[in-house]
Amino acid sequence: MTSEEQLEEAIEAAARLVVASNHVVALVGAGHSVESGIPPFRGPGGLWTKFGEPDMLGYQNFMRDPKKWWEETLSGTGAMRELLDALSQAKPNPGHYALAELEQMGQLQHIITQNIDNLHQEAGSTAITEIHGSRVKLRCIACNTRWPLDEFPIEEVPPKCPQCGGMVKSDTVLFGEPIPHDALSECIRQTRMCDCMLLVGTSGVVYPAAGFPQDVKMAGGRLIEINPNETALTTLCDIILRALAGTSLPLLVERVRQLAAA
Ligand code: APR
Repeated sequence: MTSEEQLEEAIEAAARLVVASNHVVALVGAGHSVESGIPPFRGPGGLWTKFGEPDMLGYQNFMRDPKKWWEETLSGTGAMRELLDALSQAKPNPGHYALAELEQMGQLQHIITQNIDNLHQEAGSTAITEIHGSRVKLRCIACNTRWPLDEFPIEEVPPKCPQCGGMVKSDTVLFGEPIPHDALSECIRQTRMCDCMLLVGTSGVVYPAAGFPQDVKMAGGRLIEINPNETALTTLCDIILRALAGTSLPLLVERVRQLAAA
């Protein structure tokens, strides 16, 4: 069987599974935004592959000298320059629009994204949990209040929370930082309800996100992987779309639409 025929067969099986499932959740990683011009972290062309894994004490460094962290962030220097530039120019790709359509059709109940790029929202998705935060939001580390970046004038660094006086940082979760409890508990709640999880563009090596598919599987749910490469989760998956998200997701959604209309 050619790889095209294999993909066609896999899309057919995946579409039938999505339509037959009650609570479908998409777990999304950096690969989903590669076709929007944002580099992944690992593998070929990955940021960590090029620059080395970042300091796992990112959060501790922030807490030690938040003023220095903010000055560096506002001056746009540091290793993340390439990522910040790509993020500021990125637009949703057909994969993002496909997930938004699947939600509008009532065939996708939630997205758990590891991406901080806000592209799901720009594509029209609404049921989203950003487990690693969002680059367009700020968050108070004491009371967990969040603000859209463009609605919070930064008059001093580190900025203080108008609510509780706590310290405000970017909403993005730094290495070593605990996942905000509201985001983590919503991910766990969605995972518990999930009987079919789409794994889109994630290498499946960073926890707690990489644990959710395993929980779904243990509870008798099914997994569909959408990724051009093998991952740490491939052996757990029931159906594999060995393809790019931007090309395979629109095909999957089109088949779901046909089956749901039949
Ligand atoms: N479509 C689908 N998948 C793709 C595409 C594409 N166009 N291009 C690459 N991929 C796949 C790669 O094969 C790889 O499996 O996307 C995956 C990207 O893996 P990572 O770079 O490890 O990204 P991710 O799994 O999201 O990393 C998790 O690690 O560094 C932290 O906080 C960061 O959220 C990130 C977390």
